[in-house]
Amino acid sequence: MSKKWVYIQDLGSYVGQEITLKGWVYNTRSSGSKIKFLLLRDGTGYIQCVLFQGETLQEYLDQFSLLTQESSVIVTGIVREEKRALGGFELGLTSFEIVHKTEDYPITPKEHGTGFLMDQRHLWIRSKRQHAVLRVRAEVIRLCREFFDKNGFLCVDAPILTPSACEGTTTLFEVGYFGEKAYLTQSGQLYSEATARAFGKVYCFGPTFRAEKSKTRKHLTEFWMLEPEVSFATLDENMELAENLVEYVIQKIMETREPELKSLERNCDVLKKYRAPFERLHYNDAAKMLEKGSPDFKYGSDFGAPQETFLTSKYDKPFFVHRFPKAIKAFYMKQDPEDATLSLSCDLLAPEGYGEVIGGGCREESIDVLLKEIEKHKLDQKDFEWYLDLRRYGSAPSAGFGLGIERAVAWICGIEHVRETIPFPRMLERLRP
Ligand code: 4AD
Ligand code: MG
Repeated sequence: MSKKWVYIQDLGSYVGQEITLKGWVYNTRSSGSKIKFLLLRDGTGYIQCVLFQGETLQEYLDQFSLLTQESSVIVTGIVREEKRALGGFELGLTSFEIVHKTEDYPITPKEHGTGFLMDQRHLWIRSKRQHAVLRVRAEVIRLCREFFDKNGFLCVDAPILTPSACEGTTTLFEVGYFGEKAYLTQSGQLYSEATARAFGKVYCFGPTFRAEKSKTRKHLTEFWMLEPEVSFATLDENMELAENLVEYVIQKIMETREPELKSLERNCDVLKKYRAPFERLHYNDAAKMLEKGSPDFKYGSDFGAPQETFLTSKYDKPFFVHRFPKAIKAFYMKQDPEDATLSLSCDLLAPEGYGEVIGGGCREESIDVLLKEIEKHKLDQKDFEWYLDLRRYGSAPSAGFGLGIERAVAWICGIEHVRETIPFPRMLERLRP
């Protein structure tokens, strides 16, 4: 008979009471004919349920073998404190009802290859490891928003369908738009510059798209980006904002998601050391280090994976590289007044081999310079008239950055590949499920 329906995460308030849980069979195990164990998950946690002759009717002991992996069930029983059990509680089962009996669940406790698991992503997300990663992801997002909301930023979202490129024309996804060409957004930045002139300091958060042909552990074609933009901010102020955000998220995540991080075997003591301020490395100094240590590097070029790996091996905290060459940056990036070949840009590189998690900088505020850059980058000026208006009416310095959520989550969780940090990853060779 069904009692009050509660969730596993709330069981602490129901010790000694008979309650009902609704969920799925994670595992079963028998200890002779008189005692049987069901490990149940309901999405909020796991609990061991015990079926004991004498506490339940014989019919339930007889039906126990019908409880196959991932069958959906409604169970009723008495909550007991049990220090040795996962989560600290167990349920003395009095009855259960099978809602749906699952046959041949494709993901079994044996080892599966990643390709197979990616094809089964819609089911794979039920597993413990994926659960932990996605719970960390949700918390990272919540903390990012909390940081900006607490610091007086206004959340103003940017459009997804756009008429023009923000980050170069080679990675655009084209879509038809009532007879016109449109593109999925690569970054909300240009729009955030507009909203920052309207509201001072803002952020946007949403999916961004890049037709990346690279098959690496860091590239998705659809990823989520958090982008703050601050009118009148300098490059230094921009880096300060970025390091405060990263410190906030990392220090706070341990308050609520330490069990998940531990289950992923993440060393939380290492994370605890990631406190601001983070070092600032000038591109020219980074280049000197690379010229010595990274054979394929040439001054003036962007960092590839080998350069990021080399640089991150020299630091045990996140660090900034600033003032990248102007020629490798997007059209809007402001020239360094001290060296016209450089730009007022900054990337935050995560240690432990993770590399770039944040990219940003100062925006060009002179309309004349911007017009030349638009031409140089072979962009169509008419698509940017609205953006140029921001320089015609109350032009001002402006700086901001983009934090890639999946890269940040991969680093925080200490996992190898970004594909596990988003519920349904989109990559060069993966559009399904
Ligand atoms: O460095 P990016 O390209 O910077 C921008 O898009 C700026 N418009 C942001 C701004 O200033 N508002 O991208 C920012 C971050 C990167 O540091 C990385 O974390 C993430 O977005 N990123 C990706 N993550 C996963 N897959 C990809 N293909 C990514 N490309 C960028
Ligand atoms: Mg970048």
